[in-house]
Amino acid sequence: MLTRNLSSQPEDPFFMKTLGVLTSGGDAPGMNPALRAVARTAFENGCRVVGINNGYDGIFDGNVEELGGRLLSGMIDRGGTILQSSRCKRMYTPEGIDEARRRLQELGIHGLVVIGGDGSLTGAQELSNRGMPVVGIPASIDNDMAGTEMAIGVDTAANTIMQLIDRIRDTARSHRRCFLIEVMGRNSGYLALTTAISCGAEFAVIPEYYCNIKRIVTQLHERYQQTRDNSIIVLAEGVCDADTFIQRMVAERGSEFEQEVRKTVLGHVQRGGIPTHFDRMLGSRFGELAVTGLLQQETGCMTSLSKGRTTLVSFDQVIGKKKHPAPELIRLARNLQIDFGDPTEV
Ligand code: F6P
Repeated sequence: MLTRNLSSQPEDPFFMKTLGVLTSGGDAPGMNPALRAVARTAFENGCRVVGINNGYDGIFDGNVEELGGRLLSGMIDRGGTILQSSRCKRMYTPEGIDEARRRLQELGIHGLVVIGGDGSLTGAQELSNRGMPVVGIPASIDNDMAGTEMAIGVDTAANTIMQLIDRIRDTARSHRRCFLIEVMGRNSGYLALTTAISCGAEFAVIPEYYCNIKRIVTQLHERYQQTRDNSIIVLAEGVCDADTFIQRMVAERGSEFEQEVRKTVLGHVQRGGIPTHFDRMLGSRFGELAVTGLLQQETGCMTSLSKGRTTLVSFDQVIGKKKHPAPELIRLARNLQIDFGDPTEV
């Protein structure tokens, strides 16, 4: 991983007078602490900060406001994003990105901080390729971005899911049921696998591994026959939806299960909520680093957490790259006897 050296000071510390910041894509708890850190670090270094509302749409619509004072107080403990967010279709075409670049110039924005997931930082990379000084901050509960061990929002979402599964386990135990719990993760099984570990689930179904449905069905049957035990299966939405998965299990078994099988789709309750200490710290660290980087003429890069330290990594090394589950996480799940399928190449 390329890490950038932030030791050199810019010749003119006030060369970048106005910074813009936006949040884009799915909201993630910790975006507000990141916005706050961006603004405070910018003020501390003599810059103005313009908040761009509603993601990239705000650039096209000129929907911007100067950040400061009351707008920035009482927000560190709030989920979501005070700037609001969107998935902006106008950023999907080269002409749209050219226009966004022009608009940023017209708005007098000298440097931009983009807080969002892979799609949002792809837009940031395109702007930086067109000469706009940009630093990205990874924020997505899915934790699907290469180049950083954690993105903003993952820890809060994982804690929320863990608490919800713990509650479902009470009913599963009391009624000897099997619960299939669908969690978010469009292309990533991180939330499903790590919450399966922290909740002591029996099975995790994740997009990165081939799901051996026959084995799941056999094991469920045996568990129920032997001990009438309850079971928890955590399913990442990126594999399929819960109804489809239950249909596949019933088709594999060839008949209905003796045990009652129920599903719970957690949905957007996973994405909101008060950011945890970890997400407040990560948001604050990434926000501060993004501005420090821009002021030292770093651009075309993303903040990253690696081995406990924050660094900047080049967009070219991370955008569009697949993030694989860490080998030690796979080993941990295996040794804790969670069945999460087989490597896809098998
Ligand atoms: O990318 C984050 C995420 O929460 C995914 O886990 C989920 O598939 C998607 O966003 C849902 O997006 P939306 O709220 O736009 O339907």
